[in-house]
Formats: sequence, structure tokens, C-alpha cells
Amino acid sequence: MDKAAPFSDAEIEKIRSDFPILHQQVHGHPLVYLDNAATSQKPRVVIDALVNYYTRDNANVHRGIHELSNRASNAYEATRGRAAKFLNARTSDEIIFTGGTTEGINLVAAGWGLNNINAGDRILLTEMEHHSNLVPWQMLAERVGATLAFVPVTGDEGVLDLSTLEELLKPPTRLFSMVHISNSLGTVNPVAEMCAKARQAGVVTIVDAAQSAGHRPVDVQEIGCDFLALSSHKMCGPTGVGVLYGRMDQLKRMSPYQGGGDMISDVDYLKSAWNKIPYKFEAGTPNIADVIALHSAMDYLDQIGRDRIAAHDRELGAYAYERLSALPGIRLFGPKHGRAGVTSFLLADVHAHDVVTFADQRGVALRGGHHCNQPLMKKLGVSSTSRASFYLYNTRAEVDRAIEVLAEIQKFFAV
Ligand SMILES: Cc1ncc(COP(=O)(O)O)c(C=O)c1O
Repeated sequence: MDKAAPFSDAEIEKIRSDFPILHQQVHGHPLVYLDNAATSQKPRVVIDALVNYYTRDNANVHRGIHELSNRASNAYEATRGRAAKFLNARTSDEIIFTGGTTEGINLVAAGWGLNNINAGDRILLTEMEHHSNLVPWQMLAERVGATLAFVPVTGDEGVLDLSTLEELLKPPTRLFSMVHISNSLGTVNPVAEMCAKARQAGVVTIVDAAQSAGHRPVDVQEIGCDFLALSSHKMCGPTGVGVLYGRMDQLKRMSPYQGGGDMISDVDYLKSAWNKIPYKFEAGTPNIADVIALHSAMDYLDQIGRDRIAAHDRELGAYAYERLSALPGIRLFGPKHGRAGVTSFLLADVHAHDVVTFADQRGVALRGGHHCNQPLMKKLGVSSTSRASFYLYNTRAEVDRAIEVLAEIQKFFAV
């Protein structure tokens, strides 16, 4: 994977032409979209898939016998097979459609956690988790009487201190849930190594792949995790849909998450029997159109090559880090080397919201805030940071433009 080349200028131009939204002016300036960790833009093929579905095939899935329902059901199930291939799951039965990473993690916390985590057990997380991989575990721990523990982060450099991992994985730890790529630090965690250690200790693992699945090859068998959750909207797909991968042996240990249509095989007034896996975990009418369009997003990313997207992210992340570090008074977060395409920083004492508001007036879309990493921010002694995050369609020229605007902000605020 490390050998893949970043994109040439001509390749990026071609990629950019696939994204209609990028070609516009914002406040009189060409749009420079650097808020990809929040959500990515969508290529024309994904937009077309949505329009085509609603124009030609719209019907409910699984329950119909008519032509449109068959088309919708086939396309919906085809995405399941595609997602299994995208993640190298053993079978498409290990793929559950969710509303996103948040719902995937909540599904595991409720469906697996309530059956398998007991009073006195320990749930291990890291100090860099997004709220969606923290709050569900706090809620579960409170409900069953379990405790939480955290793999520490080493200050501004933002890497995990794994020296005590073996100790932390000892009983009573039952579950280890970890982020693959940090949305505020750009750190790429060695999840395969972390999962291998957990497996040796008999601890079940979950990987939050919200920031990684669309940015690099993600192979659940190579990582060796029990569960992995992702969001379609961060990887060129529509909002409101996600994938939860679960190893079949763990899915068999789970109760349904929600009750309703589709997740049952037989219903009586007083008792019901569940549908087979994975349908047991998909109650009610699913997000059919968005699941179908997610297929196009996965095809799009793989046609381009996720190894090449990773190389591009790495190159742009390193370039942005280098240019940012030359700004006077800047405080940068996250590792110097081996980072993903996410950079977080503070411009002396200019508030992140002022940075983002000013940049917006110049057409540059950044994000400022706690990035749903409040405990991490507190640990770093800050309330917020500004963040520039990149994706396959961003260019060095856009990094240069962002730096130019940041320098202007420094001048304006007399930093
Ligand atoms: C690392 C990480 N995990 C989880 C999430 C939650 O994703 P979603 O809001 O799509 O459920 C995000 C979103 O920013 C994230 O960056």
C-alpha cells in the first residue's frame, strides 16, 4: 500500500471534474473545500444513482413481488455483496446496513453489549475517541455496572501510548473499541496490532473506521477485528447510511437492536421469532436509495484505488503540516510523520470559530470546534481547534490558498 503513487495533476483535474459541487464561488472566491472529515462531497455517479433510483426503480424492498420491488431489492442486496467485498468480509451475511458509524456502534453496544458485558466488566477505549465511540459505552457501563478505561494519548503529538496495552487488556476487560484514524489529530492507529493483542487476551474488538474506510484499503480479516463501523457520507456516498461489519460468531451472540418489520420470521401476539442474520438487525423499511447509491460510491473509490487515495492524503497531509508549521505562533496537533489527511491547529489565541468564519469569507471551508472529541480537547488543554481535512479532489494549490488565508487572519488579528 505504501508503494502507491499520489495522483498526478492531470489525475486530480479528472477527479475534480467528477464532483459538480466543487466548481462554484463562495463569497466571491473559488470554493476550497477542506472539511472532508465532517463529510465528503459526492461524485456525479453517486448523485445519478440516487436520481435514477427515484426516477425508475423506487419501491419497498423484500416484501414485494412486483417488478419495481424486485429491482429495488436486488440493488439493495447487491450493495451488501459490494460492501462485503469492499471490506473483505467472509460473507455478505456479515454486513448490516445502519444509519452511519454512530448507529453501528450503538447497535453493538445494545445488541452485543447488553448480552455480554456484565457488572464488574471493563470496556477499553482510547483517549482519542469520537463521542460516538464513547457515549454509547458510558451509557452501557452505567446500565450494567461496568467500568471504562482508556489507552492514553501522548499530548499534542497525538499518538497512542501502547506500552500498557497488554496490562489494560487483562481481565476484567471484555471489549476494546478503537478509532482507526483520529478525526481531530490525523493519527493512524495500528489497529491490526491492537486487535491482535486483544484477541490474544480474549477481548472482543470494534474498529471505528469512519475516517479510514473511504481513504485507504480496509480489510477486516487483515485487521482481525470482531466489528467495524463506517459512514457512507464520509466516503463519497450519501448521508444517512452506514455499514456495520460483524464477525458471524459475534453476530450470533447478539440480540436484535430494534423491533419491527423485516427483522422477524414469525410473529404472534405474545412472542416473535427473529429473521436470520443480517436481517435480524435491520428493522423497518431501510434507507433503500442511499444504500443503493453507496454501491456507486464504493465502485468509484475502488476504480480510483484506495491505496492511491491514501498516498494522496498522506502527501497532502504532510505538505499541509509542513506549510502550517512555518506560520508564526501556530500550535499543531497530531503526529509529525505518518499522518492522514487531517490537520488540527491553533493560531495563537485566535478562537477557532473566528478562524473558520474569516476563512469562509475567502471561500475556504474549514471546521472549528471540539470535533466531537471534547475529552481529548480537555486533555490537550484547549476548548477547540481549527481543522483542515483533505480528500482525493484536494490539491496543493488549495493548501497554499488556505495558508495564504491563515496568514491574512494572523495579520488581521495581529498575531
Ligand atoms: C472518527 C469518527 N467516528 C465516528 C463518527 C461519527 O460518524 P457519523 O456521524 O457519520 O455517525 C465520526 C464523524 O465525524 C468520526 O469522525
